[in-house]
Amino acid sequence: MRYDPWSQHEQRFPLTAAHKQLEALRSQFLERSAQYIGFPNSRLLSFRELGDFLRFNINNIGDPYHPNAGINTCHIERDVLSFWAQQLHLDPDSFWGYITNGSTEAIMYGIVQGRDRYDEAVLLFSEESHYCLHKIAHLLRLPYRVIASHSDGSLDMESLIATVRALQGRPFILNLTVGTTFHGAIEPPQQVLELLERLHCREFHLHVDAALYGPMLTWSEQSPLFDFRLPIHTLSFSGHKFLGTPIPCGVVLSHRDPISPFQGSAEYVGSLDTTLSCSRDGLSALMLWLVIERLGELGLAELAQESLQLAEDFTSRMEHSGIPVTRHAHGCILVFPKPQEELARRWQLATRGDFAHLVTVPGVTPEMLHTFLDEWIRSEPRSSGPLSPTKPGIDDTTTLRGMR
Ligand SMILES: Cc1ncc(COP(=O)(O)O)c(C=O)c1O
Repeated sequence: MRYDPWSQHEQRFPLTAAHKQLEALRSQFLERSAQYIGFPNSRLLSFRELGDFLRFNINNIGDPYHPNAGINTCHIERDVLSFWAQQLHLDPDSFWGYITNGSTEAIMYGIVQGRDRYDEAVLLFSEESHYCLHKIAHLLRLPYRVIASHSDGSLDMESLIATVRALQGRPFILNLTVGTTFHGAIEPPQQVLELLERLHCREFHLHVDAALYGPMLTWSEQSPLFDFRLPIHTLSFSGHKFLGTPIPCGVVLSHRDPISPFQGSAEYVGSLDTTLSCSRDGLSALMLWLVIERLGELGLAELAQESLQLAEDFTSRMEHSGIPVTRHAHGCILVFPKPQEELARRWQLATRGDFAHLVTVPGVTPEMLHTFLDEWIRSEPRSSGPLSPTKPGIDDTTTLRGMR
């Protein structure tokens, strides 16, 4: 079939000067990528083979399990969901999920499910949760309580107990983060569930936000349980973090029964309106599928292991250089005192107060990290700062204070 409106339009409206601008942007992005160590976005695949799909109007509008007759990748989206449902131990015959625009939408979906279950629910999340939790509480007009976190980013269990007790039996929706954004701490679902059992809590909905660690720790036998082997209700993770899709996206998974909110019929588009946004990007599904096809469980497990190993090795290396570092077990986020502004900017470190972090996801190489450290050592004045030989390590309390 010869159908090619694109070429006609492209001849009619040529690229002219934009070509140069694109080339300049491409070179700049390549250069910046080689110094991108502060945020958790893997560089896994170039997705070149999907380039030609950019011309199609791919829209996975509505429910992936009720696709319309249009151009969509819902069947591929379902394959992606099945793969992750299996890895995360959801019953293959009774789960539901979809590919979202990112983790915020995915978390919001989980919380909406909780609210559907309990009208009067209060939303609970820790102060180290991602800032989108405040936004979600605001948008959904949910009453909320913030649970304290320790200075290393971990959950303060005493604060959780006090918060739950103060609710006096009122139902709640609890968001637990498996890999907090700044410290990479794991708010441990199993321990929390045991605690809730001891407190005789029955009416709650537990959402696990595993934005970064979800697809990483799936493969680790030693890491704390966080998936559907536990009686959690909904779980989400990002596609553009460990899995490295260039288009931000997320995955949310849930038990299909007993809750499935807003099952409106989107008659006009021929689907069911079960998702938060109506039109949905179908390229993300293709990318997530390609990652699974090319890497498979083994490849993903290998990369996750390499990422954790690099985190461990570079932690030692920084400590040997006199830099106090915190890294949680099973984590690939290293937190340390913020270096000079110029260095932090060049290496695109995520910074908060006096601290900064880097993340050893695939695409961040030992060479990059060593160059970063060499530059830091060379740029540091000899008489001050954490690298100073006369000041080999800031004591732990000083290091941890103010880390939030
Ligand atoms: C733990 C956690 N949850 C949620 C989010 C929000 O993700 P998104 O930007 O995809 O909405 C992030 C982003 O960094 C995160 O680290």
